[in-house]
Amino acid sequence: MYYPDEIIEEIRSKNDIVDVIGNYVQLKKKGGYFFGVCPFHSEKSPSFSVTPSKQIYHCFGCGVSGNVITFIMKYENCSFQEAVKMLADRSGVKLPEAEYSEEARQKNLERQRLFEIQKEAASFYYRTLRSSEGEVGMRYFRERKLTKETMQSFGLGFSGKSGHVIAYLKSKGYTEKELMKSGLVNYDEKRGLSDKFWNRVMFPIMDVQNRVIGFGGRVMGDGKPKYLNSPETVIFEKGKNLYGLNVARRSRKGYMIACEGYMDVISLHQAGFTEAVASLGTAFTPEHARILKRYTDDIRLTYDSDEAGIKAELRAIPILKSAGISSKIIHMEPYKDPDEFIKNLGAEEFQKRIDKAENSFYFEISVKERDYDLSDPEGRTRFEEALAARLAEIDGELERENYTDAMANKYMIKADALKRAVALALLNKPSSPAVMTDSMRLNRTYRTDEKKEDGEVKAEKFILNFIAEEEGVYKAVKDIITVDDFTEGINRKTAELLFEQAEAGKIVPAAIISRFDDEGEQNKAAEIFSAVIPDSLSRQDKSRALTELVIRIKKASLKRIASKAENSVDRVIREKQAMEKLARIQIEI
Ligand code: UTP
Ligand code: MN
Repeated sequence: MYYPDEIIEEIRSKNDIVDVIGNYVQLKKKGGYFFGVCPFHSEKSPSFSVTPSKQIYHCFGCGVSGNVITFIMKYENCSFQEAVKMLADRSGVKLPEAEYSEEARQKNLERQRLFEIQKEAASFYYRTLRSSEGEVGMRYFRERKLTKETMQSFGLGFSGKSGHVIAYLKSKGYTEKELMKSGLVNYDEKRGLSDKFWNRVMFPIMDVQNRVIGFGGRVMGDGKPKYLNSPETVIFEKGKNLYGLNVARRSRKGYMIACEGYMDVISLHQAGFTEAVASLGTAFTPEHARILKRYTDDIRLTYDSDEAGIKAELRAIPILKSAGISSKIIHMEPYKDPDEFIKNLGAEEFQKRIDKAENSFYFEISVKERDYDLSDPEGRTRFEEALAARLAEIDGELERENYTDAMANKYMIKADALKRAVALALLNKPSSPAVMTDSMRLNRTYRTDEKKEDGEVKAEKFILNFIAEEEGVYKAVKDIITVDDFTEGINRKTAELLFEQAEAGKIVPAAIISRFDDEGEQNKAAEIFSAVIPDSLSRQDKSRALTELVIRIKKASLKRIASKAENSVDRVIREKQAMEKLARIQIEI
């Protein structure tokens, strides 16, 4: 809905900036200005000014400025349209009604009625909690150390005997059809309608406009399910709502805390962490991330410290990342969730944990690390490969280098070696789908259907393709790698033909393919040359990847030689020396 400029101007001029801002900030008059403590950054002495003659505000501390509409947008974290609407309501300006079709009007009416039903139900549950019927619920909340104020501000309630809410809503004039759409009742052909929620403490779920859109209900005792949630309805889309966001959006900490459940949010808010939200009963969605991005690009995750919580965090991290939000992990050891932590160690300690939250990349790797036995050389190698593959997923080159250095340091791996492994993983990495056709993607890496193809065999294919594709590669490697270093079969034959062509100064992969007799072999040879070297790979990373390939192929080849019984001790020693030298090579292209 877009409003005409004249109306916007009318609304702006009817809302005096000093009046409006005065509702949010304590202002003191000084000459022709008003001063107050800036609501947009933390400061002790006032540097936030409001100028009535110009109807603008400006902060000398943080530099924000604007008019009454942008103030509301910033303060309330809302859109331009929403700000205009709020100011229109405040000053009694009537906004033009959009023209609706009959159908759209019906739909809108239905939505309004559904909002009303939720609100009525919420106040019914609220009163029940405070009546004798709700005593169990009240006792439960008190045991969980919730204050009266907290119970009030979250609108907590209790669903008593089954049938009560239906009777109440019917008395308020809602039809059975409407009740069925509200998600508050169950329907059975024989028995008709019954309350969905009964004998549970009730958590109303609100949208950012503070409208109740659904409920969560926790069982009293050990029944199943522990938490029952409203189903999706016309007004309740789970993937798009976060519990507590209606309050958290006003917090000005600069970050938000994402936790798992109702009680986590409530006890965090009660302890002063009003920046906490939870995705409810569903996993964290891209839609959640998109919504949060309106308010912050720094999320601290504090899920339960069990396996399920860690898994959920690992899933949330990339979702947040693709929305442009960086995440950190709050560790709560030895406690299992923020509620327990705060009860035992208090809010101040929790704040320390927030401040010390772990970078999500480090977190991911330390979780991965547990799958490997780092004291075993074999396990270490596999861990390093996994680490390199993960590092290769980092898009920015600088960021990737920094993390690679940090990881090399942390795990005591030679930085050069790790960088080469990362470069090789980059060579192997499927690039963004947008710029690639399906066949390119298919051909990007060598399919290893033949029972986990040997790393060496794959490395050989890579280097053959590299030689065919990049000028200078042959020259750079020919003094180290010979045809004999390749495994017998397709790879060695291809190497032989390719090296011949390279010596003659003209590389034509198509000509190599037709030198094989059987169709299967032609196919395999063609596959070698069909991999794609990513454009994004820098010269430096190409050199690193190449060095890594040469080392791997050569090592494997030397190992084969050493294992052959007929080779003399002398030969083996020579190869051993060659291996040591190999560790220091560096190939430049
Ligand atoms: P938890 O079981 O960790 O909740 O589930 P909690 O807050 O620690 O529970 P109590 O009350 O302190 O024992 C976390 C969240 O997952 C959703 C709820 O949103 C819950 O708050 N959940 C959990 C469900 O939707 N259904 C369930 O059966 C359990
Ligand atoms: Mn929990």
